[in-house]
Amino acid sequence: MEKLHISCDGGDYDILIAPEHPEEALALPGGKLLVCDSNVAKLHRAWAEKLTAPADTFVFPAGEKAKNADTLLAICRRAAQLKLDRGATFVALGGGVTGDLTGFAAAIYLRGVEVMQIPTTLLAMVDSSVGGKTAIDIPEGKNLVGAFHQPCRVVIEPRLLATLPKRELGNGLAEVVKTAVLGDAQLFELLESNARRLFDAPLPEDLYAEIILRCCRVKSAVVAADAHEHGCRAFLNYGHTFGHALELLSGFRLAHGEGVAIGMVLAAKLAVRLGVCEAELAARQLELLRALGLPTLVPAGIDPRACLDAMRGDKKARNGRVVLILPEAIGKVRAVGDVPPEIIADFLREVFA
Ligand code: GLY
Repeated sequence: MEKLHISCDGGDYDILIAPEHPEEALALPGGKLLVCDSNVAKLHRAWAEKLTAPADTFVFPAGEKAKNADTLLAICRRAAQLKLDRGATFVALGGGVTGDLTGFAAAIYLRGVEVMQIPTTLLAMVDSSVGGKTAIDIPEGKNLVGAFHQPCRVVIEPRLLATLPKRELGNGLAEVVKTAVLGDAQLFELLESNARRLFDAPLPEDLYAEIILRCCRVKSAVVAADAHEHGCRAFLNYGHTFGHALELLSGFRLAHGEGVAIGMVLAAKLAVRLGVCEAELAARQLELLRALGLPTLVPAGIDPRACLDAMRGDKKARNGRVVLILPEAIGKVRAVGDVPPEIIADFLREVFA
């Protein structure tokens, strides 16, 4: 088992990876409400119920569509019907949608109860379950309403990845590459040397445990330094400004990690153009993303002007100014907020051609 401790504004908690005694790792005092989607319920509900002994399990329909105010309130209402009090813990069993939704419900139920995260997707294990970002979607955009609410514990079982569809694994691997580029050069090399093994059946669990540990280390350090994203937490958005825009403009045909993969390719190309990094970095990153089977080209039919508009409308933009996270070297990025929009527009016109 690996244990990381994270101490940040709003939280002080352990991340337990591959715990030897899951029954102890998952035991918490007080009433519990387990939350999962209909897919995860089929696969892991019985296991989680046995180990967490919840008062009840709230199951919602799988998919991003359910990440809305109705589901959020339904979770809170179920907790109220069960008469869960301030000593209660909501247990999020699932991927990013479940973690965000349950975390937000925990942030507002009785003005705040604990949430334990048990991620079941690679993306959630390496990124979204750690750091306390919670949210729902509204018709105007994804994740536009939410709160920072740190979990009381994160328990990661890499063996749960065995049931994950290949595309979902790829999605998570895009966030792993992101983490490597922004803060862990050795992780990047580990991925380069093992890219072929990452989709083996059975999955190489020890390798995944090492990858997850390294990602959680980087993420914990960033969140400990800047829990509320006033500074370096923005580094975690590497590839996301382009990526979110492409996800949106593809009508969400691109999955999140796929948008991020293309977004990282674009960010690195722009960084080379601006003299922020060497061309070799962009080439190495491109090769790794390809080896992982991730898309690296902007899908046909996306208008570069619409992309710039979407980037300016991103919730991370400040006063309409696009802040780009650009790589300097493998393991090091920087935030650049002063790239003139005309330069970005010219760049997009060129790469979208
Ligand atoms: N996923 C980016 C963050 O947690 O800040």
